[in-house]
Amino acid sequence: MKLKKEPKLKKKLPKIFVWTYLDEYKKNKSIILKSIDKVFKSGNLILSNEVSNFENEFSKFTQNKFGVGVNSGTDALQIALMSLDIKRGDEIITVSNTAVPTVSAIVSCGAKPVFVDINEKDFLINSDLIEKKITKKTKIIIPVNLYGQSADYGKIKKIAKRNNLKIIEDCAQSAGALYHGKPSGSFGDLSAFSFYPTKNLGTYGDGGMIVTKNKKLYTLCKKLRKYGMSKLYYSDKHGINSRLDEIHASILNFKLKKLNSDIRKRRRIAKIYNENLKLDDLILPIENRHNYHSYYVYVVRFKKREKLMNYLKKNQIFCNISYPFPIHSMKGYKYLNINGNDLKNTNLLSKQIFSLPMYPELSDSKLERVINVINKF
Ligand SMILES: Cc1ncc(COP(=O)(O)O)c(C=O)c1O
Repeated sequence: MKLKKEPKLKKKLPKIFVWTYLDEYKKNKSIILKSIDKVFKSGNLILSNEVSNFENEFSKFTQNKFGVGVNSGTDALQIALMSLDIKRGDEIITVSNTAVPTVSAIVSCGAKPVFVDINEKDFLINSDLIEKKITKKTKIIIPVNLYGQSADYGKIKKIAKRNNLKIIEDCAQSAGALYHGKPSGSFGDLSAFSFYPTKNLGTYGDGGMIVTKNKKLYTLCKKLRKYGMSKLYYSDKHGINSRLDEIHASILNFKLKKLNSDIRKRRRIAKIYNENLKLDDLILPIENRHNYHSYYVYVVRFKKREKLMNYLKKNQIFCNISYPFPIHSMKGYKYLNINGNDLKNTNLLSKQIFSLPMYPELSDSKLERVINVINKF
């Protein structure tokens, strides 16, 4: 019997994800497993040497004096707010184009978020619009260093001083970025970082840190992360349970050493995108003058976003939108009664922005494929 010739199977192209930790893990598996093993063998799992080493090293890295390791970036923001005695009715100025946690931390303290529009070009808080939103109830400004780039602290610090406001930097996305040569996290009275896996400095689970130069605030934050206790089993202030654990701190101690080189790799990828993406009307991200962008994500703008993203998906390239919904438009925050008519760029950009694959281990061949596929759209 003569068999029919099998039709040649078309080889499926490997998937390209917007982000993955798997290549990094493959490369560093033995170091990471050794670090975890060392913790397990040490007899100390919570708030011990790995955490205090990391607090010291990371606060130095951000040019702060103190660091308090906590369970997440959301907790870092909430504890920072609690340390400034934020209460029901206080107003906090921030943006609506951010991750929900920026706002959920404010709401968890009983305060009210007040949104300022973003710049069309860099997606960051428009500092010229901040003062219009200041009232007698305003206590704090939380600029979000979105996508890996610092907000305009030259202006923001002056506004805060003039109006007697504190600044908490939301640095969840900006570890390793610089503004006028100074690190992200060095401009706030307190600054909050996330070590969620996708972040520039990400662990293999959850983690966060508050950094500050102020000893009083540091002591308070340290207390607040552990039920408000300064001595065992006695709370002298209402606090929460939010500890960075030894396992994640040990991974972060290793990853901090390679953060700058990881960011250089991200910047190289961004440069290759910038120089080679040629699709008409695809607007590429900008790096502001005096900024060193850490490219947590590479965000482009395109009017027919869904069409382009679907086409990329068909070609096994998976992108992400951060963020498709401005916070003021979400059901969970409808009670704030913010119509958002004055948040024009926020509303417009949420319909057009999306991020291309970006992580330090993204190979040149994958990068080339993303660029070629986009250019052929
Ligand atoms: C801008 C911003 N703020 C805060 C957070 C909260 O960080 P975490 O996920 O560690 O709670 C994130 C991360 O999702 C973020 O992107």
